Amino acid sequence: MLKIEHLTKRYGDVVAVDDLDFEVTPGVVTGFLGPNGSGKSTTMRIILGLDRPTKGRATIDGRVYAELRHPLREVGALLEAKAVHPGRSARNHLLAMAASNNIPSSRVDEVLEFTGIASVATKRVATYSLGMNQRLGIAAALLGDPQILLFDEPVNGLDPEGIKWIRDFFRTLAKEGRTVFVSSHLMSEMALSADQIIVIGRGRFIAQGSVDELTADVAGSVLVRSSDQERLAAIVRSRQGTVHDRDDRALSVGGLTSDEVGEAAFAAGITLYELTPQRASLEEVFMGLTADAVQYASASTEVPRGA
Ligand SMILES: Nc1ncnc2c1ncn2[C@@H]1O[C@H](COP(=O)(O)OP(=O)(O)O)[C@@H](O)[C@H]1O
Ligand SMILES: [Mg+2]
Repeated sequence: MLKIEHLTKRYGDVVAVDDLDFEVTPGVVTGFLGPNGSGKSTTMRIILGLDRPTKGRATIDGRVYAELRHPLREVGALLEAKAVHPGRSARNHLLAMAASNNIPSSRVDEVLEFTGIASVATKRVATYSLGMNQRLGIAAALLGDPQILLFDEPVNGLDPEGIKWIRDFFRTLAKEGRTVFVSSHLMSEMALSADQIIVIGRGRFIAQGSVDELTADVAGSVLVRSSDQERLAAIVRSRQGTVHDRDDRALSVGGLTSDEVGEAAFAAGITLYELTPQRASLEEVFMGLTADAVQYASASTEVPRGA
């Protein structure tokens, strides 16, 4: 179990992580979603002991990273920044890591095989493509066969085949009962790869839940066609709902569930022809949740022109 407790990190005036508090449970893929600059990488670096929290802590089965005797056997990670010496081969890199954690060298060959880079394992890392580098990072994360795995923006720069592979791979790890914590700034990616999602913005916790739960929280408009739209609109407003004309014949009702709209219509003797809960798209949900939290919101989508 991975536990984040009142975690805060300041860099001078910048509050990168602001009193985050959540748990990541085993057996599911947990997404860590937030716009760029929202504090995902900082949180992951603190979990891994690469950065010190200003306040609070991150623990792995009750202990902070520095207290782990053989850290690679307890937590594996793929981070954004590549720390591999470019002149080294993948195999030598992994062998050095393995030695430092009392991991047998046979395990190095296992993870090279599994990640599909065994055939290039003796080549210098400098010659690797981005996808091969990602696979090497994954091989390193798996080296100690840890129960907890962190992946920071793992699909960045991967081709569609690589992305599919990595999604299936996360599922497999979770099914084996591991804790899988994956960051992304893309809601669409999280929707496809994560069972649970933790949303943050500007370092702060915003929401946690399944994709369905997050969608239900934010969505909640109901499309209605009825025998008396005008009277129904008045009833909806009297119950604190909002009404927008969708077109000539349909109303979009906000603030009330479809059950509530149906019951109100029935009580008023209005016949319903259609009553459809509208789901917000995932991107709308994400934008809605993080609207106040986008650090570098662009004012315009127009391409600036030179004078
Ligand atoms: N080493 C650092 N020094 C100063 N500011 C940093 C440092 N690392 C991150 N930050 C700042 O902290 C905030 C969160 O960054 P980061 O954790 O990288 O976000 P994310 O991974 O969600 O994009 C940003 O404003 C970033 O500029
Ligand atoms: Mg990041």
